[in-house]
Amino acid sequence: MAAQNTQIGSYVLYLDQTDSTNDALKHWLEKEALPHGAALHTAHQTAGRGQQGSQWESAPAQNLLMSIYLKPSFLKAEEHIWLNLSLSLAVRQTLQAYVNEPVQIKWPNDIYIGHKKICGLLLENTLQGNKIKYCIAGIGINVNQSVFAEPKAISLAILLGKEVPLNLLRNQLFAQLTHYFQLLQAGSRNALWEQYHKHLYGKGVNARFSDAEQTFEGMILGIDSRGRLHIEVADEIRSFANKEVTLLNLLEDR
Ligand code: BTN
Repeated sequence: MAAQNTQIGSYVLYLDQTDSTNDALKHWLEKEALPHGAALHTAHQTAGRGQQGSQWESAPAQNLLMSIYLKPSFLKAEEHIWLNLSLSLAVRQTLQAYVNEPVQIKWPNDIYIGHKKICGLLLENTLQGNKIKYCIAGIGINVNQSVFAEPKAISLAILLGKEVPLNLLRNQLFAQLTHYFQLLQAGSRNALWEQYHKHLYGKGVNARFSDAEQTFEGMILGIDSRGRLHIEVADEIRSFANKEVTLLNLLEDR
């Protein structure tokens, strides 16, 4: 079998406007057999989707709104965490090239600078048997928007005081996505694990959380191989799946 071309972004469809790039990519896939790494990029979404059924707001032509078709067919369904690690690290690294302050990953895959969110990922996996057949990875990066309704949002332009060319950022992102996907494919899990924990927002810092029952104080220790977040609460270590816990705020500044 021929080795899979792991270059991401060599096949790109650009649309002036669409509902959601994740949904538009699904429709594109119904019409055409896409190669791994195909990307759908738009200037404006009329129904941008965020995690947990939320909306993703983005001013027209200001931000990077894109979905990528990935085929990590070497990953078992329960290993989806590794794709999450690779993609978050690729976005993080791309943005780190622009700013001096640390770019961090807020579990599981929000990208933060300071205490504000600059990027969100929406990963939608389709399984075949116990393998990941493909993933549609939606990426929304706040780039040139200067005003947000959401107080926790920030953009590169706000941080830099100048605009960033979207196509340049897009190509830099493609390069990092290619690099981190290759690391994943090569089985470099230790490197991905270490980097994710090095850049994990709130790790080792006292913080306030909420779960379904209460708010509580604790300290993030890290994630486990299933992607669950481990938090030290009093003398106990509690673990949470995605959506079971929210980090409200850090209680110390780091
Ligand atoms: C989040 O809630 O943090 C995830 C946001 C994901 C937004 C991106 S923008 C491009 C892609 N298309 C969508 O509809 N959502 C993702």
